[in-house]
Amino acid sequence: MKKMTRALLILSGIPLLAVFIFSQDCLSESCHQTFTDHSQVHAPVLEGDCLVCHTDSGKKHPKSRGSEFSLESEDIGELCEGCHDIAKGDLHTPVAEGECLSCHNPHATDTPFLLIESDISNLCNKCHEAVITNKKYSHGPTAVGACNICHSGHGKMVNSLVPLEEINQLCYSCHTLKEQEINSLENIHKPVQNSCVDCHNPHESDNKYLLSLSSPEACLVCHEDIRIKIDNAKSHHAAVEEEGKCLNCHLPHGSNYRFNLKENTFQLCLSCHDKKLKEGDHIILNMKDYLQKNPEWHGPIRNKDCSGCHNPHGSENISLLRYYYPPEFYSPFDIQNYQLCFQCHPETNVLDPSTIKMTGFRDGDRNLHYLHVNQEKGRTCRACHEVHASKLPVHIRDAVPFGGWQLPINFTQTDEGGTCAPGCHKKVEYKRDKN
Ligand code: HEC
Ligand code: HEC
Ligand code: HEC
Ligand code: HEC
Ligand code: HEC
Ligand code: HEC
Ligand code: HEC
Ligand code: HEC
Ligand code: HEC
Ligand code: HEC
Ligand code: HEC
Ligand code: HEC
Ligand code: HEC
Repeated sequence: MKKMTRALLILSGIPLLAVFIFSQDCLSESCHQTFTDHSQVHAPVLEGDCLVCHTDSGKKHPKSRGSEFSLESEDIGELCEGCHDIAKGDLHTPVAEGECLSCHNPHATDTPFLLIESDISNLCNKCHEAVITNKKYSHGPTAVGACNICHSGHGKMVNSLVPLEEINQLCYSCHTLKEQEINSLENIHKPVQNSCVDCHNPHESDNKYLLSLSSPEACLVCHEDIRIKIDNAKSHHAAVEEEGKCLNCHLPHGSNYRFNLKENTFQLCLSCHDKKLKEGDHIILNMKDYLQKNPEWHGPIRNKDCSGCHNPHGSENISLLRYYYPPEFYSPFDIQNYQLCFQCHPETNVLDPSTIKMTGFRDGDRNLHYLHVNQEKGRTCRACHEVHASKLPVHIRDAVPFGGWQLPINFTQTDEGGTCAPGCHKKVEYKRDKN
């Protein structure tokens, strides 16, 4: 109480005679005059009021050869808090524990805030392992030791001592263009809304752009399901594994397209599939060129959707297909073989022997899909249809791959049905309306 009263008196500028005498004494030339020879002098010291903190019990004063210089309170935190209102709560541990002197000098220094170190990072490094260990890339403000731009000495532990409510606000306080860029996106990636430091290290990193992990680990660490998909894939996609990895197709912060894609799926796929590519010995066709030359585009291609049939990350099936699709001309009928198509088309197409509406490929009510496909020696869809695009209507192929040959189908569509003269049998005609 005595201390508080004195403090109040000093702060309100009312000099106390006794205090005046003592202070004269303490700061006198022969004694502690050097205490004020600094650019930053603690207000009570400047006032010469040593006794707000020290007791004057003569025995303990060094001059009287006492052992230690006695303080009003053994508890430094309490001593300081007599005049300073230190916020309560989940503060930086040494602040909460009243270790004010591990950072501040009680009397005077040449550094702002009476800090005992002019280099802030040295101050922090007294207790923390250095955050700068000469990794390949360091973050501007950290590299120059400006730890306190981001952390406050007293900050809240839960928020890593960041004085702002959210870490993202901190990042945006300098990266203002990034803020505008991200906020203008239609879909913002969840972790970006959550915290920039989910991916970036605020101090330094061996990875470009201060990423905490290298690619693709930087993504797979959260997307375990994609990792499993890639690990278990029988057909791999070079796009996922070559330089750039996930970022060959995705943007990290968000995008105006679905799934954080760089472009719509169609543009994206054709950005690489605009030339012949190699898969081992197999030459993959130039899809862009192929589509340009074959004007009859299949529905999903018209809808600019390649991922309806392909899994861009990898697949257990050939050609990255989402479902098994028989690569042969003949295959014993099993409805499972055609799940790829029946994601979007009705199964009854090949299950009902007769129909008057299900399919246009019928002769009267005889379902010719059933006839060709639903047999022990069934023809697969590929025997007649080209899956991406073709020159003929209904995606009928020009020619059928049979053995090592391409047998022309010679399909013609008519108002009532169609005709074909394939290498498999003589020219036949089907008519939906038999009357
Ligand atoms: C705000 C509280 C406060 C005030 C005011 C204060 N001191 Fe101190 N002083 C301390 C504390 C705390 C220590 C112990 C420092 C340590 O343990 O490192 C200390 C230690 C000392 C010491 C011994 C160690 C050293 O730093 O040399 C001397 C001498 C001293 N004070 C003199 C003074 C004098 C003279 C004044 C007035 C001009 C004064 N103090 C004002 C808090 C204060
Ligand atoms: C007798 C009252 C009193 C006590 C006790 C006291 N201070 Fe202060 N302190 C002040 C006053 C007055 C100021 C100036 C306030 C201002 O400028 O807002 C000040 C300012 C400071 C500053 C800011 C200096 C700056 O450059 O802005 C720090 C840091 C500080 N005190 C730390 C301490 C610590 C640590 C203790 C305990 C060892 C302590 N104070 C004890 C009165 C006190
Ligand atoms: C880990 C180091 C550290 C400890 C421990 C610490 N401070 Fe500070 N303090 C700072 C730093 C750094 C600043 C400068 C402002 C900032 O970065 O937040 C500061 C600023 C201050 C200020 C002036 C600004 C303000 O917030 O009013 C006062 C007063 C102060 N400290 C008092 C204390 C007291 C009292 C204690 C003990 C309860 C204490 N400090 C413990 C590092 C520390
Ligand atoms: C006197 C010792 C001491 C000093 C000096 C000190 N710290 Fe701490 N700091 C601690 C302790 C103890 C903890 C709590 C234990 C832990 O998590 O490491 C802590 C916790 C932290 C945390 C939160 C840890 C987390 O995991 O989120 C941050 C951030 C931090 N300190 C930053 C700083 C910065 C920046 C400085 C320099 C301005 C600094 N510290 C100076 C002792 C200190
Ligand atoms: C650009 C802002 C920024 C700068 C500058 C900065 N930090 Fe940090 N620091 C952070 C953020 C944000 C976190 C929280 C990281 C997290 O939660 O993963 C953090 C975390 C920490 C931690 C907790 C443990 C850890 O390593 O994650 C310590 C200790 C720390 N910083 C010390 C320092 C020191 C010392 C400096 C100066 C050399 C410094 N920081 C500079 C933003 C910064
Ligand atoms: C005090 C200002 C400041 C703050 C706060 C800040 N940065 Fe930076 N940051 C910079 C500067 C300066 C650079 C280096 C200049 C540049 O490349 O744009 C930089 C560079 C970066 C880079 C690398 C850019 C590149 O092109 O290589 C990333 C990533 C980054 N900051 C992320 C963050 C994150 C995340 C946060 C929040 C935890 C953050 N920054 C907070 C100033 C800041
Ligand atoms: C999901 C992980 C992730 C999160 C969360 C994240 N980033 Fe990034 N960030 C990246 C990746 C990956 C790159 C590298 C982009 C590249 O290679 O083109 C990057 C690049 C950057 C760059 C430098 C290159 C550029 O695009 O300008 C800055 C600056 C940046 N991020 C800031 C931020 C800020 C600020 C936040 C928080 C609002 C944030 N990031 C959140 C993953 C992330
Ligand atoms: C810190 C965890 C984390 C990291 C790291 C991360 N993500 Fe995500 N990602 C998420 C979460 C959470 C969602 C939202 C999932 C949901 O809504 O079901 C998400 C969603 C997505 C989506 C779907 C977006 C949509 O519109 O549905 C894509 C694509 C994606 N992330 C790609 C990436 C890529 C690429 C990277 C690496 C640059 C990455 N993620 C890194 C957590 C993460
Ligand atoms: C070749 C381009 C491409 C690459 C490379 C790629 N993705 Fe994707 N990703 C896509 C497309 C296209 C979609 C949308 C799929 C759809 O329409 O169903 C997608 C969807 C996603 C989704 C959300 C939907 C889902 O399937 O769970 C996540 C998460 C995702 N990708 C993460 C990743 C990660 C992590 C990597 C790197 C290991 C990666 N992607 C690499 C093209 C790609
Ligand atoms: C970054 C370039 C790139 C992008 C973007 C890309 N691909 Fe590929 N793709 C390749 C390369 C290179 C190959 C050949 C090597 C291989 O098979 O992985 C390939 C092969 C394929 C294969 C044949 C795989 C096999 O095992 O036969 C399919 C199917 C495929 N891509 C579909 C797609 C689809 C669908 C998209 C869009 C979602 C897409 N690609 C986007 C580069 C790309
Ligand atoms: C309706 C399903 C479906 C859609 C949609 C689809 N594909 Fe395919 N794709 C297949 C099938 C089935 C194969 C297997 C080869 C075959 O049977 O002709 C294949 C094979 C491929 C191949 C490998 C060709 C080769 O020479 O090995 C590439 C590349 C490819 N597709 C790219 C694309 C691109 C790019 C898109 C979007 C523009 C797309 N696909 C849309 C079903 C589809
Ligand atoms: C992602 C959905 C989807 C998948 C998967 C799919 N299709 Fe289609 N298909 C469509 C759409 C949409 C149309 C267009 C319907 C329309 O124009 O009314 C269509 C039309 C067709 C047509 C008739 C075109 C016409 O001109 O009437 C044939 C033939 C066809 N698909 C065959 C297949 C085959 C074979 C498969 C399996 C390899 C398949 N489809 C897989 C969506 C799909
Ligand atoms: C023997 C050749 C042949 C086979 C095999 C074949 N189709 Fe067809 N398909 C046709 C013909 C011809 C048409 C055009 C009928 C018309 O409109 O005149 C057609 C039309 C279609 C259509 C358009 C809607 C309809 O039924 O008229 C779809 C969808 C279709 N086929 C899917 C498939 C699927 C899926 C498979 C494999 C399970 C398959 N086709 C196997 C010849 C075939």
